[in-house]
Amino acid sequence: MNSIPSKLQKKLADYNQAHLLTFWNELNDAEQQELDTQLKTIDFDQFVTLKAKSSEVTTKKVEPCATIPLDESNFDLGVRAIKNGEIGVLTVAGGQGTRLGWSGPKGTYPATPITGKSLFQVIAEQIVFASQKYNTTIPWYIMTSNQNDAITRAFLLDNNCFGLERTDIFLFTQGEVPAVDCDGNMLLATKSEVAMNPDGHGGVVAALQRSGGLEEMATRGIQHLSYVQIDNPLAQVIDPSFIGLHLSDRSSREASSKCVLKTDPDEKVGVFCTVNGNVEVVEYSDLPSEKATERGDNGALLYGGGSIALHLFSVEFLQQAAQRMQWHKANKKVSYVDVQTGEKIEPDSPNAFKYEKFVFDVLPFAKGTLVIETSREDEFAPIKNASGQDSSETSHLLQQNRAKRWLEAQGVEVSPQSTVEISPLTASCAMDLQEVNLPRAIGEDEIVAL
Ligand code: UD1
Repeated sequence: MNSIPSKLQKKLADYNQAHLLTFWNELNDAEQQELDTQLKTIDFDQFVTLKAKSSEVTTKKVEPCATIPLDESNFDLGVRAIKNGEIGVLTVAGGQGTRLGWSGPKGTYPATPITGKSLFQVIAEQIVFASQKYNTTIPWYIMTSNQNDAITRAFLLDNNCFGLERTDIFLFTQGEVPAVDCDGNMLLATKSEVAMNPDGHGGVVAALQRSGGLEEMATRGIQHLSYVQIDNPLAQVIDPSFIGLHLSDRSSREASSKCVLKTDPDEKVGVFCTVNGNVEVVEYSDLPSEKATERGDNGALLYGGGSIALHLFSVEFLQQAAQRMQWHKANKKVSYVDVQTGEKIEPDSPNAFKYEKFVFDVLPFAKGTLVIETSREDEFAPIKNASGQDSSETSHLLQQNRAKRWLEAQGVEVSPQSTVEISPLTASCAMDLQEVNLPRAIGEDEIVAL
């Protein structure tokens, strides 16, 4: 057994966190080493700022945000950027499928109605298809977390990266931050481990810097990132119309986002607002209900632009955005070891604060942000819950409905009762189906995967 390293003891005392060493003398060599190593990785200066920032009170002027429709006016500009190899895909996949009742990383969840392709496969195959269609290479940057990094890597390798070159996939891990109790003390998850939580999808910006991802992009000549969450199998990962609009004034624009009209004021999506004059996403839980329900003269919700977490970011902009992002604080249940008794406590009510960053918090710092309204039916079928709203059941239906619309646009008679799936390797839009040998009709009992 070793005595507490004096440097460590002093550092923790300086930050009022000496209690983390309470059980030091009970730990074996390996456990002491584990705790020492973990404490060295915690950024205590950031921790202090984090506590201070979260208590800042700001008065914000929240107003509705102007949006423009997604159209094809700059389609060719978008295609040129894709062909030039300027576009990469960025996916945040650090979350676990807890809400879904899925034990693995969310990206491994079977998402499509007939073939059960995983959420990862749906994105990978869209990248494969676009790379072939535009005769280019589109690298894929995937953020994992400590909890799911190894299993995500293994899943991609076991599946041959779903047709992508392994060298065109850049996996990197998001950071973690300590959870703190109501008095600002870090908690021990075990006697030799501080309780940490992932730093939120907004951690992606710092993680890209830390991991060398931004440099890798610069080496490849990637100038813009198409950002997609892992949970929406209808998301158009490579969309020339969106990219074209984003580039339409390329001297200044640093970010653009897609939105859909909210179905009702209570829909659980972030809302695009103008805050103190800048575009910002305000989370549903933070938008006051008098604003969420406010309607204009035409009856439409004034705060109706729901975020579907699809963005385009300029790489150069992300290089300097990491330091500017705020922390969000959420009161959560965190199990911990009581330093007085040594007992493990499983609280029944929130006892601690977790800190997270949200990626959309870069938007207020971006120049020229466009918020572009796309069609909900065509691009939003998230899988978040095990049943009911935003479940695989609702998503399957929406995926099928889009597939049927695409087929009907090519003159196929499709029974509403049929079951249809279009692979991302077959088409990325209705027009792509012109190249495909299609049936004349699909009857009500038919199950057709194209
Ligand atoms: C999110 C957005 C919401 C938007 C909605 C659209 C937030 C806070 N809210 O809600 O504005 O309208 O999607 O579907 O983002 N993730 C990580 N690391 C983390 C946390 C999350 O990689 O530490 C990833 C998840 O794997 C997932 C994505 O971020 O891909 C979204 O996270 P989630 O917590 O599921 O957000 P929602 O509540 O669904």
